[in-house]
Amino acid sequence: MIERTLVLLKPDAVQRSLVGRVLSRFEDAGLKIIGMKMIWIDEKFAKIHYSGIGERHGEKVLKNLVDYIHGGPVIAMVIEGVNSIEVVRKITGTTYPNEALPGTIRGDFCHISRKYANEHDKYVGNLVHASENKKDADREISLWFSADELFNYKTVHDIHVI
Ligand code: CDP
Ligand code: MG
Repeated sequence: MIERTLVLLKPDAVQRSLVGRVLSRFEDAGLKIIGMKMIWIDEKFAKIHYSGIGERHGEKVLKNLVDYIHGGPVIAMVIEGVNSIEVVRKITGTTYPNEALPGTIRGDFCHISRKYANEHDKYVGNLVHASENKKDADREISLWFSADELFNYKTVHDIHVI
């Protein structure tokens, strides 16, 4: 099934000049970028995007996360492809970089652990956000993008990868 998912290159990806290399991981898999922009969100928007994180990880994690995600501009994009929600999560890697497998973005470009972050009252910097499921993807895409910012077009990969 062709799906759409929201990907954010978080402020650490932008500030570490990793935008091109991270983006390449998705392009190399033949996934299609159908919308993209740089945006510096405010605290209110960050809390809406990460609604539910307080319940899952606690208020302290939420506060650090909100500071992290609006601490600088992000690159927001919508990525389309066959089962793209799951595929993009696989390419991104699991949440805690020390546990993320080599070959994934989080496994290759960062290494902080949950334990270190908790003990130092620090966010887990892991470069990329990727929607977790269809419900989240739909909500997040409409939060970050208007319909006229998303484009239908053919890539040279289409006949090979779809
Ligand atoms: O991003 P992902 O879906 O893998 O994880 P999440 O559980 O939805 O958490 C969202 C983000 O919160 C993570 O990507 C981390 O950047 C951050 N986080 C954190 O700073 N400290 C934690 N203990 C857990 C998550
Ligand atoms: Mg998540």
